[in-house]
Amino acid sequence: MIPGEKTSLIMTQSNQIPHSDAAGSFDLTAYLAEKRRMIDRQMEQLIDEQGPPSRLHDAMHYSLMGKGKRLRPVLCIAAAEAVGEKTTPSVLRTACALEMIHTYSLIHDDLPAMDNDELRRGRPTCHIRFDEATAILAGDALLTLAFEVLAGCRPENGGEKQLKQLRVVSTIASAAGSQGMIEGQMRDMSAQGKQIDAGALKQIHAFKTGAMIEASVVSGALCGGGTDDQVDALSEYARNIGLAFQVADDILNVEGDPEIMGKSAGTDRMLQKATYPGLLGLEESKQYAKDLVANALQSLKIFDTEAAPLYAIAQYIVERNR
Ligand code: IPE
Ligand code: IPE
Ligand code: MG
Ligand code: MG
Repeated sequence: MIPGEKTSLIMTQSNQIPHSDAAGSFDLTAYLAEKRRMIDRQMEQLIDEQGPPSRLHDAMHYSLMGKGKRLRPVLCIAAAEAVGEKTTPSVLRTACALEMIHTYSLIHDDLPAMDNDELRRGRPTCHIRFDEATAILAGDALLTLAFEVLAGCRPENGGEKQLKQLRVVSTIASAAGSQGMIEGQMRDMSAQGKQIDAGALKQIHAFKTGAMIEASVVSGALCGGGTDDQVDALSEYARNIGLAFQVADDILNVEGDPEIMGKSAGTDRMLQKATYPGLLGLEESKQYAKDLVANALQSLKIFDTEAAPLYAIAQYIVERNR
């Protein structure tokens, strides 16, 4: 278990959601521990396959294998489960590719030209531990490796799932790129020090964080052979939890404990970032995050008990302390 993480995440608000019995007794702590073990083992192997240790491979390994929550790969696996698919090798590879893209984005986000952060995942950021050029290149290499890993997916049962794999690749590519996360990072940087309205802030968060979270859920559903209706419902779920996740990140930046989070607090204010607490205040931001989660849970109505992990993850997103 990751130090400082809440352990009591067994769902209790069963009355507000469908299939409440299964979701209510679902042990998210055990689920996360099991999936993180699988993800970490697979990512270690994928990095090892890159060849002998080198400064570049060490930097990639250092950032990737830090104590991240592994939210995006877990969401991918949980979405595949919701549509009735086990954690097959291709689901697991897709999950790892998502974490590689996310880790690259953190390495670059922390660079002096961006948020200029020195602490990440409880350790010095990549450019502090190595150097700026190595951090840039380690990020580049992780992004590229992610697509190599996706290209190496061999969907089980061939046929239709193989076709869906192409959709997985294009979904992830567009979420990571200039119509998704990178556009969000651009808007985040250019909003610094400016007053923006709620609509513009929602857009920044949807791009910079929401897009990859949505891609994680949708790619899991596609890998699992989900129907169009299932994929649509899961997209709606993901849009809501994606925004809730970044609202929670903004709140933690104000009142979180850096020891537990493994990253600095107070930095958004220092850099005059556009955030929800800045716009709405803390209490209203917390209520907004909860409302988003409630919306997300509504989108899971069409699923059976296989969606219990997705219910619990949605709650975790706003209750987390790291
Ligand atoms: C941090 O993401 C960056 C945001 C998009 C808010 P996470 O909070 O998922 O970071 P790790 O992966 O657990 O380190
Ligand atoms: C990071 O957002 C988003 C991406 C890396 C795409 P933030 O800059 O708000 O996240 P933290 O607080 O550094 O983790
Ligand atoms: Mg940033
Ligand atoms: Mg940052």
